[in-house]
Amino acid sequence: MVTKARYIVFSIFLPLFLTSFNAAAQNTLVPVGEIKYAATAFPDRIVLTATEDPARNQTVNWRTRGSVTEALAQISKATDTPALHLTAETIPGRTQVLEAGNGLAHHHHVTFNNLEPDTLYAYRVRGDNTWSEWFHFRTAKSGFEPHTAIYFGDAQNAVKAHFSRVIREAFSTAPRAQVMVHAGDLVNSSSDANHDDEWGEWFDAGSFINSMVTTVATPGNHEYLAQPSGPRKLVPQWPVHFAMPSNGPAELGSTVYFMDYQGVRYISLDSQQALQDAAMMQIQTSWLRGVLGNNPNNWTVVTYHHPMFSVSLGRDNPRLRESWQPLFDEFNVDLVLQGHDHTYGRGENVATGASGQLGGAGPMYVVSVSGPKMYMIGESAPETMDRLAEDTQLFQIIQFSESRVVYEARTATGELYDAFDIERLADKSKRVVDRRPDTPDRLCGNPEERTGSSCWGGSSHIGL
Ligand SMILES: [Fe+2]
Repeated sequence: MVTKARYIVFSIFLPLFLTSFNAAAQNTLVPVGEIKYAATAFPDRIVLTATEDPARNQTVNWRTRGSVTEALAQISKATDTPALHLTAETIPGRTQVLEAGNGLAHHHHVTFNNLEPDTLYAYRVRGDNTWSEWFHFRTAKSGFEPHTAIYFGDAQNAVKAHFSRVIREAFSTAPRAQVMVHAGDLVNSSSDANHDDEWGEWFDAGSFINSMVTTVATPGNHEYLAQPSGPRKLVPQWPVHFAMPSNGPAELGSTVYFMDYQGVRYISLDSQQALQDAAMMQIQTSWLRGVLGNNPNNWTVVTYHHPMFSVSLGRDNPRLRESWQPLFDEFNVDLVLQGHDHTYGRGENVATGASGQLGGAGPMYVVSVSGPKMYMIGESAPETMDRLAEDTQLFQIIQFSESRVVYEARTATGELYDAFDIERLADKSKRVVDRRPDTPDRLCGNPEERTGSSCWGGSSHIGL
């Protein structure tokens, strides 16, 4: 149990330690002076991203060097013959230019349209006088059908060294998952030249999994960079890596959107924008009311970065509770997937903030972490969360069926750490069944002296 004294001491020193984390320079396996992630003739950073109608549309994004000036992809129904090129159709797209720490790159986007639902397709993307390998993806089924999603909290630090094993374990556990949700702080976004190496590592870690499973990504505070004056700005890598559905507010095109996938509405909100700019909060809140109020799906999942109910020491986001929690309650949101706190917490927070109300109908709030940076849980977390963890890399597997959501949080080694079901009853009410293992909450195991609110500073694990 977290003591009051521990909370006070860590709260006093928290700003000091956060400053020291931001100053960390080495956050990748790329030594200073080495170049690993410059764009080449060969397509890389190939990622499938959400579309508004994934039964009929699929977007693919990739990167090449600047000599590739035309975005071209080929798609065919997947067959067992290798002669895919004979049946493939060539589809043009659009190209964006970005000069980043690894030099100039062209970022390409193609959306395959008029696809058939529940169909396995093969595609490849164009480089300079070459192609990528063929990848498979399956379009969503029409209407409601069961499916599986994977959810990750912050990867953020030392991504190749430490997040790679987590996404591989997740894919091995749920190899037919159709959606991957990333709840922000995919990278650390240090403002120096190493920043593009972090994105290189994120795509390296996900590798072909990103090219097969649709990504739903929402930005965190680390995808926003401080400016000399005014609010933080979204890093330029975000919109060129992730072309998302253009069904959000015009001001927040690549970060606020929704996707309906086989009876589940996935909604991405931009909590960094909401918390740093009252107008952006208002814009999102109005938009959210619309997409929650006009929602024919069986289940609703919302993802954003900053927790509604903080798990870690010294953190609180009351403006989210003022603006978004009432809408989640009013429109019966089922799951809220968050990050930011570098701990694990799961609770069905009712309006009073008390946990242990299993059997109620409130949204289930989850905070998780997939990367190596680890914080300490805060004093109030046990009041709002039914399961907690420090010092644990995790992934979550979520299975949606018509009357049940089956949720499992597993550790980096695949061990079941938390689980619950949400049941939809005949009268349309909901019931939560807690299935967490009967094991103690994991606590920080750092054998050296902890630093303020930190158990492990993520970039200290590079070990170069
Ligand atoms: Fe964060």
